Amino acid sequence: MFLELVEKRRSIRKFTDEEVSEEDLREILNIALHAPTAKHRNPVRYIIIRDKKRLEELSHYKKNGAAFLRGANVAIAVLTDREIAPNTNHQDASIAATFILLAAADLDLGATWANVVDAKHESGVTAQKFLHEFFDLEDKFDVECVIGIGHPAEEKSEKVPFEYEEVVFEDLNDKVK
Ligand SMILES: Cc1cc2nc3c(=O)[nH]c(=O)nc-3n(C[C@H](O)[C@H](O)[C@H](O)COP(=O)(O)O)c2cc1C
Repeated sequence: MFLELVEKRRSIRKFTDEEVSEEDLREILNIALHAPTAKHRNPVRYIIIRDKKRLEELSHYKKNGAAFLRGANVAIAVLTDREIAPNTNHQDASIAATFILLAAADLDLGATWANVVDAKHESGVTAQKFLHEFFDLEDKFDVECVIGIGHPAEEKSEKVPFEYEEVVFEDLNDKVK
C-alpha cells in the first residue's frame, strides 16, 4: 500500500558496502521515467555515479549536507535541460526525484536528496558551477539534486506526518496560517 511506503521512506545517510544491483538501479530509474512533466516535455536527465573515487569527490560539492554521498553505493544526479522546459524544469525534476526516493524505499534501499541550489563548494564557487565542471555539462543544464543510494546501515522510525490541522484549510471557512 502506498501509505506503508511513505511511512517507510526516510532519509538514509549511512550505507553498508553491499552493492545496489543493476536490476534495482534500473527499476528505480524506470520508475522515475513514469513521473509527470509539464506539457509532457521531459527536461529531466540522470547521471549515474558508481565509481568510489568520483563519489568521494562528489561528497565535497558543497560545504554541508553532501558528505553522506561518500558512503553511498551509487548516486543519481538529477538534471534538467532549461531549453526544453524553462518555466517548469525545477518542478519536473522535483517530482522525478521524489519518485526515485520512493522507488528506493520500496526496494528496501536507503536514499537521501542532496540539494544544489544556493550551496557553495569550499573553494567559494557555487555548487552548481562545481558540478557543471565535475560532469562536464553544457550551460543549458541545471543540476537539481544528487541522490545517494545504498543498502541502509541505519534504522529510522516510521515517518511522522505533519499535523493535518496545522496545514490543511477549508476554502471560505478558514484563514490559512
Ligand atoms: C528539497 C530538499 C533538499 C534536501 N537537501 C538535503 C541535503 O542537502 N542534505 C541532506 O543530507 N538532506 C537533504 N534533504 C533531506 C531532508 O533533510 C529530509 O527529507 C528531512 O529532514 C525529513 O526527513 P525524512 O526524509 O527522513 O522524512 C533534503 C530534502 C529535500 C526535500
